[in-house]
Amino acid sequence: MNTATPPTPRSVTATAPGKINVQLSVGARRPDGYHALTTVFLAVALHDTVTATLAAPGRTAVTVIGTDAQRVPTDATNLAVRAAQLLREHHGTDAGVALHITKRIPVAGGMAGGSADAAATLLACDALWNTRTPPAQLHALASELGSDVPFALLGHAALGQGRGEILADLPVIGPLHWVLAFAHSELATPAVYAEHDRLHALRPTDARPRPQPPADPALLAALKTGDATALGAALVNDLQTAALSLHPALAATLRIGAAAGALGSIVSGSGPTCAFLTTDTRAAQSVARALAASRAVRRVRTVDGPAQGAHLVPPRTRPTSGRT
Ligand code: C5P
Repeated sequence: MNTATPPTPRSVTATAPGKINVQLSVGARRPDGYHALTTVFLAVALHDTVTATLAAPGRTAVTVIGTDAQRVPTDATNLAVRAAQLLREHHGTDAGVALHITKRIPVAGGMAGGSADAAATLLACDALWNTRTPPAQLHALASELGSDVPFALLGHAALGQGRGEILADLPVIGPLHWVLAFAHSELATPAVYAEHDRLHALRPTDARPRPQPPADPALLAALKTGDATALGAALVNDLQTAALSLHPALAATLRIGAAAGALGSIVSGSGPTCAFLTTDTRAAQSVARALAASRAVRRVRTVDGPAQGAHLVPPRTRPTSGRT
């Protein structure tokens, strides 16, 4: 019997999915500046990948390839760099790491791509440094990094409350067939929330957000039974008006998808990515073709959901190319 301890890997790869909020109900602004949310997250099969390689003690380096790579910061503001630093501080180690990120999720697109990179980095560094962080602690570190990072760890579908970090698994029958339309520009999440607040301040007091909005039972039932028609009719995003106010061209994108037969059309999170739910892969291709012909749309992708949360990629199945 071989009792030798397996050698510590020099390099570990993890992958994490992007998300669509099929319900995003925004409640009151809290004293800490965040908004109370009731959201239903759905992870979709569009993943970023992070390879973590041992580096000199205390060092965190990052390189990025793939979609929009040039738009991703490579300094200490990069959420993956912050994730590596937070894990290092949590364990009081000075282990070093070089992170190599392959982007497929649009940058500042409302699909939590930076959060996916942070979640994948937590898993990859935890395995690389052999720090064996229990899942509850990983979740706590993830919520410190950002409201969407815990869901990127969890994946599939979940009800999110608090500022989005308090999660409960939701049953979902898939696959659900989505079309994503990436816009030419970005939207910064804080700017979209600020616009949401500005628009609500103009409304009468009784039309202002409730402290903690309820989850929509019809939407939860549609997810549970895999009823795409009912889900399409129930899609709701309270940030959509603010995203459209900052980026009016999105209204045309939503109209094109709806006219091409989508069951439901919605801005994803804080935008500007738009998501269209369709009946099957054929319908998805037809909606994708209509959107691709629009000059307001930079790129179109078809994706299925739900998708698995952040996980390690065994060495033999690692991608060999950064092309998307
Ligand atoms: O948590 P995260 O860093 O991803 O949030 C980015 C920004 O989005 C926050 O600084 C805040 O402006 C806004 N936000 C919010 N309420 C939430 C989540 C995010 O106001 N529940």
